[in-house]
Amino acid sequence: MENYDFKIFSGEDKNLGKKLRDFCLQIIQEVYWYSYRKDWHNDIDTLFKSEGGMYAQKERWCFFYIEKDGTIIACWGLRNIQTKLWYTERFTSRYSDINTIGSIWRFYIVKDERWKSLWKKLYQRVEEEAEKFWYTHLYLHCSDAHIKVKDFWEQQWFQIFEKDYEQDGIHTLHMDKNL
Ligand SMILES: CC(C)(COP(=O)(O)OP(=O)(O)OC[C@H]1O[C@@H](n2cnc3c(N)ncnc32)[C@H](O)[C@@H]1OP(=O)(O)O)[C@@H](O)C(=O)NCCC(=O)NCCS
Repeated sequence: MENYDFKIFSGEDKNLGKKLRDFCLQIIQEVYWYSYRKDWHNDIDTLFKSEGGMYAQKERWCFFYIEKDGTIIACWGLRNIQTKLWYTERFTSRYSDINTIGSIWRFYIVKDERWKSLWKKLYQRVEEEAEKFWYTHLYLHCSDAHIKVKDFWEQQWFQIFEKDYEQDGIHTLHMDKNL
């Protein structure tokens, strides 16, 4: 495998935070065909706010990215599920201690770098960081509009535990995995 440069976003460099936010929005536009929405994407807004916002290396949250020849080609964020009040309210009954539930966000690889097993390196690092933070489970959600993405997460042993109907037969799938 090529030698990818794995980096953690420390929250100090606001320009880098902006570049990471733009990278996420570019993937969101390509894959989901929608643009920025404050209610859905406010986590990436915080990347260039003071001290790295939601993903600063504190409180068991972090944001990783990979650069190739100075260009961002992949990223992901990890944070406690309680960082979204709505999830805390909704999923408290599922978990005995919601404080130990990590959630994965923005697991994105640029188009030209897909199908190359980069995802393995990327995902392995998610679990390594989650274990350092003593998370017992990982949560994520994805859309079944993209069957491959659902299959991808199932291959990593995530299981669907709830579905929300969105529109046109499409659902948001809530998935989690024991660590
Ligand atoms: C999701 C994403 C990270 C996967 O990375 P990728 O490099 O495209 O992954 P691949 O297509 O090589 O597949 C990775 C693994 O998923 C599984 N997989 C993929 N498609 C599958 C399918 N149709 N059926 C079963 N398993 C499948 C396999 O385990 C495969 O592993 P293998 O290469 O060892 O066989 C990448 O496609 C991406 O960034 N997509 C856009 C953003 C996105 O939707 N991110 C997820 C947000 S929840």
